[in-house]
Amino acid sequence: MKFFVDTADTKEIADLAATGLLDGVTTNPSLIAKSGRNFIEVVKEICSLVDGPVSAEVTAIDYDNMVTEGRKLAEIAPNVCVKLPLTMPGLKACKTLRQAGIGVNVTLCFSAAQALLAAKAGASFISPFVGRLDDIGQDGMELIADIVEIYGQYPQFETEVLVASIRHPVHVVQAAKLGADVATLPPDVLRKLVHHPLTDKGLAAFLEDWKKTGQSILGR
Ligand code: E4P
Repeated sequence: MKFFVDTADTKEIADLAATGLLDGVTTNPSLIAKSGRNFIEVVKEICSLVDGPVSAEVTAIDYDNMVTEGRKLAEIAPNVCVKLPLTMPGLKACKTLRQAGIGVNVTLCFSAAQALLAAKAGASFISPFVGRLDDIGQDGMELIADIVEIYGQYPQFETEVLVASIRHPVHVVQAAKLGADVATLPPDVLRKLVHHPLTDKGLAAFLEDWKKTGQSILGR
């Protein structure tokens, strides 16, 4: 499973990229607004920090302007993946940009039918938002199961399932069990994945016992 980080905070991205665990980045207009930075500049910087796909979202809602904005975003760096909303103009723009060899992440997916359309439009990624579905009393992970099952029926689909709107580590484990291709995680959720109290307790005990031996591996 690939791990993307869902943020426009370049310090966080640089820290996480240094762990070697990061495969890409997703942003959205809200995350760009939160960064307080110029959109084009921040996307350029993010693209220099990671080798994998960096999703940058268009803000136009009509086909012509989506394509124009998408082409402009794609010029920022070769690893830009243009993010388009799951609307009819968005799907049409997806087809056009994909035919031009540009990566596309179709976002704001809340149903299996929408995911099916994105795959037919040739999306590189489909982003179903699990947390936002959970928030309204629907089971976000059920949607992931449905999409993985549907895409599995059609080997010709090349669209990767990118689980978005992840809120906690359990979402990540559930998505991995279902075979989702990618999870995009807020930085704090990515960091939470490593923690287990028994790891901390076990390490403290090992170090305590090691101290008693008076030895040093490096002989210092
Ligand atoms: C994904 O690409 C989106 O940016 C993101 O996962 C949305 O998450 P949220 O529902 O926590 O805003």
